[in-house]
Amino acid sequence: VCGSVLSHIPGVGSSASPEHGKVLCVGLACLDSIHVVKTFPVEDTDVRCVSVRLQRGGNASNNCTVLSQLGAPCEFLGTLSKKQYLSVVVDDFKAYNICINNCIYYEACDAPMSVVIISQTTGSRTIIHSNKNLPELTLDDFKKLDMSQYSWIHFEGRNVEEVVSMIELVEFWNENHISEHDRGHGLGHKALPISIEIEKPRAEMQDLIPWADVLFIGKDFAEFCGCTNMSETLKKIAQDAKPNATIISAWGEQGAMARGHDGTVVQSPAFCPHKVLDTLGAGDTFCGAAIFGLSRGKSLQDSIILGCQIAGIKVGMDGFAGLD
Ligand code: ADP
Ligand code: FRU
Repeated sequence: VCGSVLSHIPGVGSSASPEHGKVLCVGLACLDSIHVVKTFPVEDTDVRCVSVRLQRGGNASNNCTVLSQLGAPCEFLGTLSKKQYLSVVVDDFKAYNICINNCIYYEACDAPMSVVIISQTTGSRTIIHSNKNLPELTLDDFKKLDMSQYSWIHFEGRNVEEVVSMIELVEFWNENHISEHDRGHGLGHKALPISIEIEKPRAEMQDLIPWADVLFIGKDFAEFCGCTNMSETLKKIAQDAKPNATIISAWGEQGAMARGHDGTVVQSPAFCPHKVLDTLGAGDTFCGAAIFGLSRGKSLQDSIILGCQIAGIKVGMDGFAGLD
């Protein structure tokens, strides 16, 4: 899946190689109904859109779309509805070569959906999400995994209590597999590094902070915590994170800043495309690309630069297709 858009960025787009275990992304897959408009509509008016498309979405699902195009074998784990739009979602996972072998299917529940309005003028995305009754993933679902298949486990910040118990399970596995799997990613001698993305501005997300080796803090959550910039975010989150955690803050057009496990701070500017067309999933793209870098042993600095470069390419095009 290596192609023209990525070919100028060294070390990405290499084909999936068997010596790398899969990156597992745990979280939401949903259907995005995307309506592109010239300018964002005024309330209570009747406007026409420029185009409409259905797209597989959800943070963990989008992370996989990016990881796979960069050349990382990856798996999505989450719940899926058999009642609605299953083939749209599943066929698209398959088209991107993303493993969904361990997903949990529900017959009678509705698929989570988002209506997304993208303004052509600014590239802004306005998301109206609904998740009526599809259950979240449970610890029992997670227990079925064979951990030896993976090289990295990433959790989307949601379903907090259950995710904490899943992480405890991975930690237990790590305690028994330390020496066999040291992959030299500079995150200590962990068999399976754990990353968590915290984006949603909700108080319960704070409970996830102490559990990650690598934390991705989105702008919305940072602002919810009272932070007004990236460096404040790193300092604030470090108070509750593991002492040697890597903390990464992404902030739209300001790019990203990160604090390594030894406290060193690095930064990357955003890479602005010729025209910003579609910012839906910019944060998911940044996160997927930075995980790709870290899991391949790149430095923290190079990994956040890669995250910003790939996110910059993404916001300059519609959707995610064509990163390859
Ligand atoms: P989200 O709101 O989707 O969580 P952000 O807006 O914080 O994510 O953006 C994540 C990353 O995407 C930024 O760090 C940046 O690298 C890139 N990005 C976002 N918006 C732009 C933009 N307008 N131009 C260039 N890069 C952008
Ligand atoms: C983008 C996204 C969309 C989805 C929404 C869910 O980050 O994952 O694809 O509709 O967020 O919150």
